[in-house]
Amino acid sequence: MRYIKLRDLEVSRIGLGAMGMSHGYTGSGTDDAGSIRAVHRALDLGVTLIDTAEIYGPYTNEELLGRALKGHREKVVLATKFGLVSHAGGGPWHQDSTAANIRTAVEGSLRRLGTDHIDLYYQHRVDPAVPVEETAGAVGELIAEGKVRAFGLSEAGPDTIRRAHAVQPVSAVQSEYSLWTRGIEERVLPVLRELHIGLVPFSPLGRGFLTGAVRSTEQFDENDFRRDNPRFSEENFAHNLALADEVAAVAAEAGATPAQVALAWLLAQGDDIAPIPGTKRVSRVEENTAADALTLSPAQLDRLGSLPPAAGDTHTEAQARMLER
Ligand SMILES: NC(=O)c1ccc[n+]([C@@H]2O[C@H](COP(=O)([O-])OP(=O)(O)OC[C@H]3O[C@@H](n4cnc5c(N)ncnc54)[C@H](OP(=O)(O)O)[C@@H]3O)[C@@H](O)[C@H]2O)c1
Repeated sequence: MRYIKLRDLEVSRIGLGAMGMSHGYTGSGTDDAGSIRAVHRALDLGVTLIDTAEIYGPYTNEELLGRALKGHREKVVLATKFGLVSHAGGGPWHQDSTAANIRTAVEGSLRRLGTDHIDLYYQHRVDPAVPVEETAGAVGELIAEGKVRAFGLSEAGPDTIRRAHAVQPVSAVQSEYSLWTRGIEERVLPVLRELHIGLVPFSPLGRGFLTGAVRSTEQFDENDFRRDNPRFSEENFAHNLALADEVAAVAAEAGATPAQVALAWLLAQGDDIAPIPGTKRVSRVEENTAADALTLSPAQLDRLGSLPPAAGDTHTEAQARMLER
């Protein structure tokens, strides 16, 4: 495994997204023992960056990681997120990035994760009701107190990134970025590079779609959030399958799997990028982590880079309202 820096934070180039172990996807929350084995296998393979959030579950994903990381904490760059639970009464799925809410949130995350510090603490979504300067200042205080090592933002636009960074340097921005979701390239990525902020692409496998393993929405449980996602809707599915097939064709040529090709393409975009593929399975941790050793040819990168745009938005309308674009 190779390692890169997200500003001053050294991480494995390929991390592990833990969300799906407890939240959002078919099978979430059904096999904690298997999920813990997947975390341990990732650590064996040199993965250090592990990603969660208080809203995943809510809370159960952090609790699961707390159990998984007992005795392993020092090997991990542990990332979690605040801002989608209002602890002052609104509860889960109510945005609140006030300083007071962050103070409450951090104590809960530390307790569930079984640690005395969070390595990378992200605001999960920009809160339109709270100036980002207040949020950045609150995280800065937690950094001064040793409870947090580095500050991150998720799905923030260029102006917010600049304003936050002016108060408290931002180490990483976590936003959706993959072969079928490239919206950050035009306005966000140049700002990250100008300010020396790392990029952590989430859903780097297109929520599983780019691996070729999703051939029909019939595969999804009732509570799988892809059921409501426009990319997976009936009218867009067939068009998008052609993209997954093209990734599979490149994979066949490269002697790799489609998941590995999707990750290797992201890694080829710069040494300031650390994707966090999500899986709850040991075998897929092994497969995804091995993408670190895959180098695609210039012709393969060109072919992938010129895939036609995906059909359908990557979020529901309600989710899209929380994104800065
Ligand atoms: N900041 C944010 O707002 C935000 C939003 C979404 C996600 N995230 C973070 O980003 C992480 C990754 O994103 P994600 O989990 O949404 O999407 P993803 O990594 O693109 O895809 C995950 C899906 O792909 C499947 N999968 C993983 N490896 C595979 C392989 N090699 N072959 C076939 N299928 C495979 C997983 O199923 P199995 O588990 O069954 O293997 C799961 O259904 C999350 O875990 C979370 O930590 C952050």
